[in-house]
Amino acid sequence: MEETHRIPNIQLDMARLPRHIAIIMDGNGRWAQARGLERAAGHVEGVATVRRITEEASRLGIGYLTLYAFSTENWNRPQAEVDALMHLIATAIERETPDLIKNNVSLRVIGDASRMPADTLARLERCVRDTSAGTGLTLVLAISYSSRWEITDAARRIAAEAAAGRIDPAGITDETIARNLATAFMPDPDLLIRTGGDMRVSNFLLWQIAYSELYVTDIYWPDFDGHDLRVAIADYQRRQRRFGLTGEQVK
Ligand code: FPP
Repeated sequence: MEETHRIPNIQLDMARLPRHIAIIMDGNGRWAQARGLERAAGHVEGVATVRRITEEASRLGIGYLTLYAFSTENWNRPQAEVDALMHLIATAIERETPDLIKNNVSLRVIGDASRMPADTLARLERCVRDTSAGTGLTLVLAISYSSRWEITDAARRIAAEAAAGRIDPAGITDETIARNLATAFMPDPDLLIRTGGDMRVSNFLLWQIAYSELYVTDIYWPDFDGHDLRVAIADYQRRQRRFGLTGEQVK
């Protein structure tokens, strides 16, 4: 874990930055427990990391940053934690909106809005509206999101189109699926980062990460900082992306 903090100035190739970085922000609970604090304290600290990483991604010139803030499965956590997280997200978004606008960041939200508390949804929608002119970083919050929800939802819509005779089932391609996903407005992630050390993808962007580079760090989300983000990007830049081709072919 300390390894990365010992690496001084990270040299990045600014011409080969990932266009889209997606992050599974994990380890808030363990960060808090290790300090004898309530789990909620880890989430509060996690919000500070969201701000830090958004600033760094924006400064670097990353196009899209997608953060897994609340999964479909998270609805099954104790009600007090669910309420605390929803409240935290809503208040943080409201508080940060002026700075997002100032930094030319636009906010988008992906997930099942029908399950969100009305006031959280209203504040998110207001921020999306107020930041819509931003031409810099697009910050995408995945809230009440899971890949299986998203793919099921897309399948329903495509089936309805087919049943209505508007599309031919034989003409359905991977493009048709991609167009019907919540992420249709952005490119697939180039780099998927997971903090907290677990080697799993937890129902996050399963379709979209088909060719993403994966990077897992043991660092807990509240401790993750701009330097750690640059370390992850440097690691990504050392990889050869082959998209199913041979090494010779992609040279
Ligand atoms: C995982 O840690 C983290 C979450 C379930 C929530 C992440 C949410 C935030 C950091 C707040 C987001 C706020 C904004 C404004 C987007 P965990 O609780 O599963 O940690 P553990 O694995 O150590 O228990």
